[in-house]
Formats: sequence, C-alpha cells, structure tokens
Amino acid sequence: MSAPTEPSEPAATRTAERTPAELSTTEAWLDPFDWYVEMREHSPVRYDESRDCFDVFRYDDVDRILHDPETFSSDPRNAPGLDLPPEEERSPLLETMLSTDAARHDRLRGVVEEWFRPRALAGRRERLESVAAGLLDDAVAGGEMDVIDEFAYPFPVIVIAELLGVPSDERPTFRRWSETLVEAPDGRTPEAMDDHRREQQRVSEELSAYFEEKLDARAVDRRGDLITVIADAEAAGELSRTEALGFCMLLLVAGNITTTNLIGNAVRCLTAHPEALARAERGDARLEPLIEEVLRYRSPVQALARFATEEVEIAGETVAEGDVVVPWIGSANRDPAAFDAPDEFRIDRAPNQHLGFGRGTHYCLGAPLARLETEIALTGLFDRATGIERATDELVPVRSAFIYGVTELPVEFERRA
Ligand code: HEM
Repeated sequence: MSAPTEPSEPAATRTAERTPAELSTTEAWLDPFDWYVEMREHSPVRYDESRDCFDVFRYDDVDRILHDPETFSSDPRNAPGLDLPPEEERSPLLETMLSTDAARHDRLRGVVEEWFRPRALAGRRERLESVAAGLLDDAVAGGEMDVIDEFAYPFPVIVIAELLGVPSDERPTFRRWSETLVEAPDGRTPEAMDDHRREQQRVSEELSAYFEEKLDARAVDRRGDLITVIADAEAAGELSRTEALGFCMLLLVAGNITTTNLIGNAVRCLTAHPEALARAERGDARLEPLIEEVLRYRSPVQALARFATEEVEIAGETVAEGDVVVPWIGSANRDPAAFDAPDEFRIDRAPNQHLGFGRGTHYCLGAPLARLETEIALTGLFDRATGIERATDELVPVRSAFIYGVTELPVEFERRA
C-alpha cells in the first residue's frame, strides 16, 4: 500500500507487533470497547498508516473475511510488504496450520485433529478435574488468591504439557516463552521494536531447540503423547522437521495463554456482575452459555491477521493485493447489528454466534479443550468458594496486539465448608 512513513522501521514490525495508537493506554488495553463503537460507527474499515494495514470492525465484514480464505489468506508470505526474514532465519511458527492455507493447512491440521475432538477429550475429563482440584485446594486455603497466578495460568499449561508429553514443572519457562511471543513491544520507538524482535527471535530459537531434542528422543522412546504423534508423522514423511517443530511450538503457546485469559476474563466478568456470579455460585446457571458469553463479551483473542491475495473491496474501501487486513473479532462480538444489547453481559444469551474462536477453516482447533478446561475450572472454583469479590480495583492488562486479559486478578471469598 502506501510508502513507509518511518524508513528505519521494517513494515513487518509495524503491522505484526504494534497495537493501534488508540490502544496505547492502560484504560484502553483494559476496555477497548468504546473505541470499537466509534470505529464501527464512523470508520468500519480504516487504513492505519503507522501499522500499514486495514482494520475491520463490523461483524458482517469480519465474518466474510474469515469465510473467504482464498481472498484473505493466513499466510504472511502473501504480503510482500511484510519484509519477512530470509527463509533460513524464519521461526518454525510460520510453518504451522495457523499461517498456511488450503491443502497444506488441511494436511497439517489433520495430523492432530482427532486428539482435540470432544469425544477424545471426554476420556481426559477425570485427569483434568484432578489437576484443577489440586491447584484450587492449595489456592483457596487462605481465603484469597490471585486467580491468574495460582490457577488460570498453571491449569491449562499443565494440561497441554501433559498432552504434548513435556514436564509440566518447566512451566515458568513455558510462561516466559509464551508471553514474549504474544506481548507487544515496550514502547513505540524503533529501538524498542528492535529489542522486541530480537527477544522474540531468541525465544523462538530456544523453543525450537527444546522441541528438537524432544522430537529426537521420541524416535527411541515412544509414548502415547502428542509429540509421539508429531514425530511419527515426521518419520512417515507427512511433516518436515520445521513443520514438526512449529507444530509443537504452536500447541504449547496456543494451548495455554488463551485459556488462561478465558478463565481470568470469566472471573473478571462475574465479579463485575454480582447477580450473575451469585447464580453461578449457587449452581443456578448453566456454565456452557456463560462461557460462550465470556468468549463474546471479553474475547481472549481480540484481533487476527489476513493477507489479501487480490484486490478486493470491504465495505467500500479498496484493499490491494498483498495488503494486510486485521479483522477485530473483539469488536465484531460487540456489534449491535449481530447481537441484541451487545454491551450487556447475559449469562444465558441465546443465540450467541460469537467469533471468539474464529470462523471457517482456521476455527480454533483447541475450542473443545478450552471449553472443557473452563467449565472444570469454574465448577471447581464455585465448589470451594462463595462470595467471590475482587480484592483490588487496579487491573493490569496483558499488553498484546491480539491477546486480551489481565496479568493479575486477586480475589477474596469465603471457603465453602
Ligand atoms: C486457532 C482462539 C484455545 C489451538 C484459533 C483462532 C482463534 C483462537 C480466534 C483462529 C485463528 C485464525 O483464524 O487466524 C482461542 C481461544 C482459546 C483457544 C479464545 C481459549 C479460550 C486453544 C487451545 C489450543 C488452541 C487450548 C490447543 C491446545 C489452536 C490452533 C489454531 C487455533 C492450533 C489454528 C487452527 C487452524 O489454523 O486451523 N484459536 N484458542 N487454541 N487455536 Fe485456539
């Protein structure tokens, strides 16, 4: 699209890592919803020069983009302006189902799809309940807890580590890796961008080396875990080594940080809506629609990225071939054209056709797992605690261009007998 305004900064940095200037305050990170209203009403598709991309805010437009992967590719190689590093320096994360299209995407997704189906996961329910119980019994002991640190972070990370077959006691390292990969740079200067890019590159190399060793080990020490499935697919010639590495990295990162924020955002929503919380604590509310409403109302993923494969019009704006398009699912999920009273948190909302897990071919592979984990998490919490209240008005947002949540959530409560 237009010429870069800051020549010292490669376009890849501007688009992929930066949040829009409108979201650069703590208040806006915590509640971007007023900004979305303004954009949906006045600039539903806008070109942002500083990030060199088109932001899309209305439900119908976002939905259309996600349903049309031929025009709106997930593969950044379709956006020449992104100025990607040379192939040998690229992260294996670029070689995953998330960043590929069509037949290659389907081949990659097919390798593990069975594992994430609700029926396959049902057999793991008991183990998940026992992990949640162990964490919650410790966390509730003192009548107060940090929901994120003591529960919403460790729970999904233990689960995905066990599925993959890596030791869950390495989770502080997993956390550092995951956070570095989703966090925005610490500032908007070219130096901050450079530091950030270097740090991400370093973490990607560490992750890659970690899984390289695990994949090699599985050749001689086979187990009933996902790394074995991935190693087998590599041995059968279905995956290259880089694809196998990208697979492990994607599952580790996607499998924890998002569900952490779904559980955290659920507790944040409920403590802000005491009547809904009281119903949930009494067991008087169905958790399935409640969880769907959290996915809509405070979506753990707020924005995605697509790359136009041809010139196309979106709501009257012309997007050129190779342009970057950012569909804001967090805004689509609050669009009054798609939802009745979208700014109301209704725990039995129906229908609820939210886009919190995306749509179309890239629809979240882990959605059944994330739903199961969150249901077990909330059930376990309400079994042990009542009268849950936030212990502080201060909230610290996750600083990310696409992930949405808080980094701490201290609460107080009474322990159930
Ligand atoms: C894709 C959200 C949990 C693995 C996606 C997408 C979204 C999403 C919006 C679509 C990306 C796109 O279209 O570009 C979430 C949320 C979660 C969650 C909100 C939790 C609340 C998980 C878990 C896993 C996972 C637990 C795995 C263990 C994936 C994978 C993809 C994906 C592999 C790529 C699918 C594809 O490209 O075909 N997720 N996710 N996610 N998610 Fe999740």
